[in-house]
Amino acid sequence: QGRARVRRRTGHIEPAHRLAADERITVRVAGIGPPLPDNIVTNHDHERTLDTTDEWIRDRAGIAERRTGGVTSELAARAGKAALADAGMAPDDIDLLILATCTPDQRFPATSATVQADLGLTCGALDVNAVCAGFTYAYITAYLMMTAPTGPERVLVCGTDTLTSITDWTDRNTAILFGDGSGAVVLERHEQGRLLGWDAGADGNLKPILFCDHDGFIQMEGREVFKKAVRAVVGSVEAALAQAGLTPADIDVLLPHQANIRIIEAVCQRLDVSMEITHNVLEHTGNTSSASIPLTMAAAADNGVLHPGSIVCMTGFGAGMAWASAVVEW
Ligand code: COA
Repeated sequence: QGRARVRRRTGHIEPAHRLAADERITVRVAGIGPPLPDNIVTNHDHERTLDTTDEWIRDRAGIAERRTGGVTSELAARAGKAALADAGMAPDDIDLLILATCTPDQRFPATSATVQADLGLTCGALDVNAVCAGFTYAYITAYLMMTAPTGPERVLVCGTDTLTSITDWTDRNTAILFGDGSGAVVLERHEQGRLLGWDAGADGNLKPILFCDHDGFIQMEGREVFKKAVRAVVGSVEAALAQAGLTPADIDVLLPHQANIRIIEAVCQRLDVSMEITHNVLEHTGNTSSASIPLTMAAAADNGVLHPGSIVCMTGFGAGMAWASAVVEW
């Protein structure tokens, strides 16, 4: 009892021992904050400086424009403030801040410490870096901490990245894909809302296909990342659903990391679910790394599809290679 058995291969926990915590404690998303940087860079802007075309970028990636500007702490604080307002909560209400980012302001302190001060929070703060899987990792971490009897009751989870600060704007392989963005959710203990299943994994052997050195730019083997991403996401979603005792047909709302529309299409095809259950922010944001899932969640909320009882599946993947999925009853 109490000690969960972790399966080595995928990192996920056997259903019978799912939570070494109080299963009666459940958690809901109480507020979402989606602000974006103001500056817009369109494909036509890229056409002026790169050997590329608007048509190629739309066709191969599904991106029309992306937002740029700001530092991570500033964008995270903006999203956090919006999420607090949406939840009707004050800074004092928050017991813990988790910031998912791979583009910290400084080596240290953790960027979340700056955000904590900027928002006037009085709680602890930590950064999570699982690159584009970061928000889902942070969400799972927050949830499992909150279900411990002595755990925090309200957690602010931010997903924020400023990838354009580490992108070589003369490299057409990467410059066309990435943008800056930020999203945040407030999680609170509540009888409505439950994490039904999750999966988190990594394969560090795949480091060479996507990495960024200190003081360097993003290096990527696009085609390899594409293939590995589809496989990782499908396997991860299936593992999280199996833990929940569900199948892909049960998903009402799919919130996939937004990197390339063709990756999302390939995932939907392999899971045999309709693209209709996904929400597209990619076209207007590009790949915003940790921000993409909370931004997609905000789009789903705006589209009026997040109802109590809805089965929502978020799934992220990125450099590492790292991936994570969470199946949530809304
Ligand atoms: N504009 C025009 N042509 C381009 C181009 C651009 N921006 N980038 C590459 N090309 C060219 C290539 O040079 C190649 O030309 P060639 O056939 O003469 O050699 C051709 O387009 C096809 O290149 P390829 O790399 O096979 O394209 P692709 O269909 O795989 O699309 C990516 C490239 C990067 C859009 C795609 O592989 C991708 O999205 N991969 C995943 C990246 C990702 O998600 N990273 C983040 C993970 S979190």
